[in-house]
Amino acid sequence: MDILGKHGVIERNATLLLSLSLVVVSIGGIVEVAPLFYFQNTIEKVEGMRPYTPLELAGRDIYIREGCYVCHSQMIRPFRDETERYGNYSLAAESMYDHPFQWGSKRTGPDLARVGGRYSNEWHVQHLSDPRALVPESIMPKYAFLASTELDYGNIAANLQANVAVGVPYTEADIANARSDVIAQAGFEANTSGLLERYAKVTTGDFDGDPMKITEMDALVAYLQMLGTLVDFTTYDAQANYR
Ligand code: HEC
Repeated sequence: MDILGKHGVIERNATLLLSLSLVVVSIGGIVEVAPLFYFQNTIEKVEGMRPYTPLELAGRDIYIREGCYVCHSQMIRPFRDETERYGNYSLAAESMYDHPFQWGSKRTGPDLARVGGRYSNEWHVQHLSDPRALVPESIMPKYAFLASTELDYGNIAANLQANVAVGVPYTEADIANARSDVIAQAGFEANTSGLLERYAKVTTGDFDGDPMKITEMDALVAYLQMLGTLVDFTTYDAQANYR
């Protein structure tokens, strides 16, 4: 009897065929999955990445709440047309502190992964308040209410704590100072040394143009202005991890 004849036995017995198929498929699965249990981290370490400041984190929550990700992606793909327009393609490490990630799957508006520093704070406030005042053909909704809504950061320390639970390395000091770091970054505290010590490359100041209160606009603009600015691509060495 040749081997194909023997295979006929399996083919005529549905239960045997199913059990043996499962065995074969699970071997493939184990080979792919098992090594991942032995890696501490599958994301390359990249210099410059740090957890978001409490104000940026609050801004990120507003970004998610308002559904900005429905029209904007935060992932520059490694294609020439993308990198010419937006800058260096996105690295996995650049989303490592995002829970959940904001890659997005649709671009009604442009990618925002590197929008930080591209415009002034005033531009963002004006654009978010009335996009068509700056870009007449824009179909982006108005978010003017963000400038008149005071930021609720009463539970910001708990927010940091929740991020710790999913692996973001905030320290005890980061959590203890979360509230005062919001105030310091929004320009309400002359002494920003603690904040700057805890978080590298932080921009502080009055983001929304209203020096009287900390608004949701302050938080969202602080977040947007940070996007894509943490990794320094003039010194970034893409091959470093492979040598
Ligand atoms: C209905 C889709 C839509 C939604 C929702 C939306 N946008 Fe936009 N956005 C656009 C479009 C279209 C443009 C391009 C025209 C313009 O600049 O207004 C744009 C442009 C932008 C730009 C300028 C980007 C650049 O590189 O020029 C920023 C920043 C921005 N949006 C932020 C946001 C934020 C923050 C939110 C959520 C509060 C948001 N958008 C929600 C559609 C949207």
